[in-house]
Amino acid sequence: MGSRVLLVGAGAREHAIAWKLRQSPKVDEIFVAPGNAGTAAVATNVPVTPKDIDALVRAAADLRIDFYLATMDDPQPLGLVDRLQAAGILCYGPSAKAAQLESSKAWAKAFMVRHGIPAADSRTFSDYRAACSYVESRPDGPLVVKASGLAAGKGAMVCNDSREVLEALDIAMVRKDFGVAGETVVIEERLTGWEASAHAFCDGKTAVMMPYATDYKRAGDGDIGLNTGGMGSYSPSAGVDAELARAVYDAVVAPTIVGMAEEGIPFNGTLFPGLMITPGGLRVLEYNARFGDPETQSLMVRLESDLFSICEAAAQQRLADVPVVWSDDASVSVVLASGGYPATYKLGYVIEGLDAVDDNVHVFHAGTKEDPGGVLSNGGRVLTVTATGKTIAEARLRAYDNARRIRFVDMFYRKDIAAGIDE
Ligand code: AMP
Ligand code: GLY
Repeated sequence: MGSRVLLVGAGAREHAIAWKLRQSPKVDEIFVAPGNAGTAAVATNVPVTPKDIDALVRAAADLRIDFYLATMDDPQPLGLVDRLQAAGILCYGPSAKAAQLESSKAWAKAFMVRHGIPAADSRTFSDYRAACSYVESRPDGPLVVKASGLAAGKGAMVCNDSREVLEALDIAMVRKDFGVAGETVVIEERLTGWEASAHAFCDGKTAVMMPYATDYKRAGDGDIGLNTGGMGSYSPSAGVDAELARAVYDAVVAPTIVGMAEEGIPFNGTLFPGLMITPGGLRVLEYNARFGDPETQSLMVRLESDLFSICEAAAQQRLADVPVVWSDDASVSVVLASGGYPATYKLGYVIEGLDAVDDNVHVFHAGTKEDPGGVLSNGGRVLTVTATGKTIAEARLRAYDNARRIRFVDMFYRKDIAAGIDE
């Protein structure tokens, strides 16, 4: 008998993972809590929200789940993996303690110092006055202020001078715009360079790197406008050669896995460090303890091996025994978003053209819901259109050609995802 797998989330990342799991002969049924109109086509949606751990644990028992595959950030720091494991369910994903790598930047910073992992120099403060005195005691200049806790990707404030730093401290610690996540802040040196994000499957003692995928964070073409969850991605990433990939493994990923194991909190699940390549070398900007979105959409279409077998082996600490093979094809993902995202936007528009998309192109759903009138928009990021090709340019052409066939009121997307990479 095959496995009954639970995913938690409602993004195009979860749809892409459910789509990939569907291909596994070892998977019987997939459940997604809460899911969307796209996951409903490849899995069974479960009406439970990601932070409702009690309800997730109950649903896992009721649905006779035997495998949980962590994709998004919210449930792990709240102990979902610990609770499911205690109930005898095999899990690919970090315990609450191991998830601190992402859920507490203060903890992650101290961990990196303990293990000699390169990061920006930083100080951590839980006292607003002490944080202000520190800033005032320094020469005026650029710094970055980060809410220590999970802040939906919005907790990092890049500041040009002390006035902006003090304003950022006020936002996090006095106005409490990030809630409890901002009660402790990390103030760090502002680095310059270019960014790359790495993903690795981890089983507590072994890490297997995935290919690199590059994300486009800003809402507008040319990287202008507000920060978003990610407006598109492509893989493999330009600029990441074998030498840099080796350095990321040696200086960041391997010491992280070894360090966590040494501290008695082995890291199981997907490790996704955000990196800055500076003139002085590699630095970790942050750890994520999950899959990236929309990086995952561009990665899953390149994975040739069975995703379930990889995650199952990782959950059983035998990741080194399974093949992890990737296609040489390139991939490009374009996010179709609701007008106004990431600020305010309207929901409930009928999405047209979903059936006009080529068979070899994927439309992964995020904010969508099924309705008697059709599939409706139901979030800021609505769909990810993902295409593959022999080159980035070919995948890009195919992704945009298909994205143009989809329409809903006020739909927008960036026109420059993967532009100029290999053209
Ligand atoms: P984080 O949430 O820590 O990954 O930060 C979000 C974004 O802020 C990063 O992708 C960078 O663009 C920027 N950032 C974070 N830390 C720094 C830093 N120390 N120096 C310069 N930019 C940073
Ligand atoms: N795309 C960036 C993230 O998932 O955090």
